[in-house]
Amino acid sequence: MSDSAKITPEWVRSRKETGEKIAALTAYDYPTARLLDEAGIPVLLVGDSLAMVVLGYPDTTSLRLDEMLPHVSAVARAKPKALVVADCPAGTYSTPDDARQTGKALIAAGAEAVKLEGGVEQSRTIRRLTEARIPVMAHIGLLPQLAGRRFRKVGRGPEEREKLLADARAVEEAGAFSVVVEAVDARLAAEITRSLRIPTIGIGSGEGCDGQILVFHDLVGLFPWFRPNFVQPKADLARAIHAAAREYLAEVRRNAPVVPG
Ligand code: KIV
Repeated sequence: MSDSAKITPEWVRSRKETGEKIAALTAYDYPTARLLDEAGIPVLLVGDSLAMVVLGYPDTTSLRLDEMLPHVSAVARAKPKALVVADCPAGTYSTPDDARQTGKALIAAGAEAVKLEGGVEQSRTIRRLTEARIPVMAHIGLLPQLAGRRFRKVGRGPEEREKLLADARAVEEAGAFSVVVEAVDARLAAEITRSLRIPTIGIGSGEGCDGQILVFHDLVGLFPWFRPNFVQPKADLARAIHAAAREYLAEVRRNAPVVPG
């Protein structure tokens, strides 16, 4: 594939054979999508973390589809080479038919694939979506739409371990092209990764996955009020914004020329 070629779900799936690690980030708006795409990030997720880090909700469960759609369109307007994946908000895929409607709305808004949370219990829904030619990124492990803000490591006891292995097999068999593995014990995440033919994209699940995904705001220090302990921020944008705003405030107060000249 040439450097300028559009990233597709099939490209993501085939990283399993090439062994190239997949780097994914969330994006919720046009400039961020453009910047991340220019930097070469191949997968942009319009995640339902939008609810918390952009819209100020306490967790992801309150996000409505009509709030999500404009953000999907904004990211799509950047015309990224990256694959644009959009989360199905909580409560919008309770049945396979609901999921199909939600998937169609997200695709019409500009998404090229959708993500939804759940393993075995979502396999019928994933199948329905893939039959409708809506590519699905699955999501197993910690499921924030169920767990709310209660973040914890999963997969340490034998029951959770068996459940997660079954979830991973189920989403693969249902036709998902990749699977996010969130907050899963690192050894189990590596075992799941070895057992699947589709790539795993980890978050807080160690280095044994086929790729990694992070919330953009965590990566660049733009949501300083809460930071998951597995994230090593690469920038401190909250500090940069505080500094710029304070400098501007001081300039305005002393009536300094805001525009030079
Ligand atoms: O919404 C989100 O941010 C996610 C994470 C897995 C990145 O689903």
